[in-house]
This record gives sequence, structure tokens and C-alpha cells, in this order.
Amino acid sequence: MVVLFGATGYTGRRTAEAMVRRGLRPVLAGRSADRLTSLAQQLATLGFGKPAVVTADIGDPASVRALIGKGDVLVSTVGPFIRLGGAALSAAVDAGAIYLDSTGEPPFIRRVFEEFGPRAQQTGASLITAFGHDYVPGNLAGALVLGSSGSAVHRVEIGYLIDGASRAQVISRGTFASIVELATEQSFTWRAGIQPEPTGSRMRTFSVSGRDCPAVSIGSTEHYSLPRLAGRAGLREVDVYLGSSGPAARALQLSSRVIPALLALPGARSAVGRIGQFAMHWIAEEPDPLALARVTSHVVATAYDAAGSALAQVRLRSGDPYQLTANLLAWGAQRAAEHGVSAPGALGPVEAFGLQALETGALQAGLSRV
Ligand SMILES: NC(=O)c1ccc[n+]([C@@H]2O[C@H](COP(=O)([O-])OP(=O)(O)OC[C@H]3O[C@@H](n4cnc5c(N)ncnc54)[C@H](OP(=O)(O)O)[C@@H]3O)[C@@H](O)[C@H]2O)c1
Repeated sequence: MVVLFGATGYTGRRTAEAMVRRGLRPVLAGRSADRLTSLAQQLATLGFGKPAVVTADIGDPASVRALIGKGDVLVSTVGPFIRLGGAALSAAVDAGAIYLDSTGEPPFIRRVFEEFGPRAQQTGASLITAFGHDYVPGNLAGALVLGSSGSAVHRVEIGYLIDGASRAQVISRGTFASIVELATEQSFTWRAGIQPEPTGSRMRTFSVSGRDCPAVSIGSTEHYSLPRLAGRAGLREVDVYLGSSGPAARALQLSSRVIPALLALPGARSAVGRIGQFAMHWIAEEPDPLALARVTSHVVATAYDAAGSALAQVRLRSGDPYQLTANLLAWGAQRAAEHGVSAPGALGPVEAFGLQALETGALQAGLSRV
């Protein structure tokens, strides 16, 4: 059984449709019976039948636990994950289920790998976090450069670069809420071990289609999974960057410089949170669909030797990041339900599904090699 928790949110609705179009019959779960029923009715018009619905609220953890049993697949799009994600994760661990989510939040990813992963190994649960635009493409591109670099690889650097974003709104209110939560949280990198550091500790400018893309560093699943894939070759450094060629890029770099200093001031954390909550009133629930359709997402992974010489590079490209997220979650849920995944514990995408299967699934989801 596949359960989609958060089905009535923006990403959840798109994921539900992608699942139904793949031939899956997900159980739609969320906190509002009315919104679930209306979503099920809309999906029925696609001609694949009407999905079952069930209510669950993270304020009532037993209702979330009741969603799944051993071997079931739970997909969660209930975010911001730092604040709302724990209930689904705990339920999956307790049940011994296969869990996938749409987070992109470094502190949550860290909890999945360091806190919930060891518990999952004991209960037989498999946890595949951040299985969307963030951060499947970089895991795939990173595994491909590792595969063609031999044992000399010392560092892998990955850039997620959004091109074509105009001044129109290209993120959902839910994504904005997650960014607000992250502004005051610690991130991390990999230097022969996980090392805490603020988001944006490092900056770098990538080139995409001849345009400059300023980017800032962020913690992601590649920091955990690529060193494990490299095995005894001993990957010493992993860096992941998020950037954009659009007007938001310089603001992103500027805020990365200013926010750590601001947060050191007394009371600054709650002030940043309040400003974010206030700004939320001006953000529409859904991104502008026309602007989103013009967005291209580029992912570039480069492997370097210890002297800093590039050994190999892989470039991937997709369109609308939300469609990619919905398609990847739908593919992952179906693959997990039909074939299982490699092992219990917290897994990166390549570890969970294998490189060949993931490459095929990512291509079906709209991610192509350039
Ligand atoms: N990794 C990526 O590339 C990627 C891509 C897309 C989205 N995301 C992330 O995915 C998350 C969801 O994004 P979104 O755009 O779908 O946001 P959203 O529209 O705000 O959806 C949030 C979902 O959480 C549910 N929820 C909130 N409180 C709940 C509670 N107490 N109990 C049960 N459910 C509750 C909401 O239910 P209601 O419908 O009842 O309000 C809704 O379904 C965000 O964290 C976003 O950053 C990441």
C-alpha cells in the first residue's frame, strides 16, 4: 500500500496526480476530510478511479501511526519538515515502513541520517529523505562522476542552478515557509565527516548557458550518501550549492553574508521568524504556473583530485522543479512498493534504488543528461 500524507498541499496535489497517472492507487491522507474528498473527486476525473482517503493530523501522532503497517510505503509532503515532519518519520520507523519525503531542509535531513536512521535499522524501516528536485539530481550526478573518476577523487562539488526565473513567484507558500524556518538553523558540509556550518558559508559562481549563476552552500543528502558510495576510495570533501541566474541570486548571497551576523544579536531569531510570518501574507499559495513553466533547473557535478584538477563532470537538466519532485516521488513510491529498496536505515537515492534503476526513473521523471 502507498500512502501520500500531505496530499492536499500544493506539492501533495501534484504528487497525487503524478502517482495516479503512473497507475498507482495511493491512499490520500491529510488533516481535512473535506479537502481530501474534493481532491479524490478531481483525481477521479482522470479516469483511473477514485482514490481512498483517510484523515490524520500530526497533532494526533496515533492518527499518523495508524496510516501504515510494515512494508507499506509512506510518502510525506507535510512541511516545513523541521516543525511538522517528525510525526510521519516516527510513524514510518515504528511501523518498519518505507518512507520518502519532499524535504529540502538541512537540519531535518541531518536528523533523518543521524537520529532516525539507526533506529530504522532496528525496526526494518527504510528512510529516503529529500526525494525531489532537492536532492535527487545531485545524488545521481554525483554518483555518475564518482563512477568515472577512479580512486583519485578527493572532492565532489554539486551546483543546483535555477535559470529562467523571472520576478514572478516561482515557489509555493509552503516552500517559502520552509525557507523562513531555515533562516535561523544550522546547516552542514562534509570534510571527512559531517561538519556543522551555516547555510551560505561558502559562495561560488557557476556558469549556465553562458550566464553567471551566483550560488551559496547548503547541507543536503549528498553529504551523507556520496562518501558512502565512494567507499574505501575515501571522499574527503563534498560541497553542494544552490543558485540562480535570476534577480533573487544576489539577494540570496547578500542575505547569506548578513544573516549569521544578525542572528548573533539577542532576540534576532524570533524577529527573523516574525518577519517571515508577516511576509507570508504576500505570498500566494501556488507559484505562477506560466513563470514556473519557463524555469529550467541545471545540476552540475564535478569530481576533483587532491590537487584541485577536475577529473569528470556530469550535467543534468529538468523543467519545473515541482513537477520533477512530484514525478520522482511517484516513481520512487511505485518502485519501492513493487521491488522494495536495498536495505533498512537512512539511505541516499542511489543507495536505495541502485544507480541503473534511479537513472531510468529520473529520466522518466523529466531529468535528462546534457
Ligand atoms: N525538495 C524539493 O525539491 C521540494 C519540492 C517541493 C516542495 N518541497 C517542500 O515540501 C513541503 C510542502 O510544500 P507545499 O508547497 O506542498 O506546501 P503546502 O502547500 O503548505 O503543504 C503543506 C502540507 O502540510 C499539511 N499540514 C500542515 N499542518 C498539518 C498538520 N497539523 N497535520 C497534517 N498535515 C498538515 C498541509 O495540510 P492542508 O492541506 O490541510 O493545509 C499541506 O498538505 C515544503 O516543506 C516544501 O519546502 C520541497
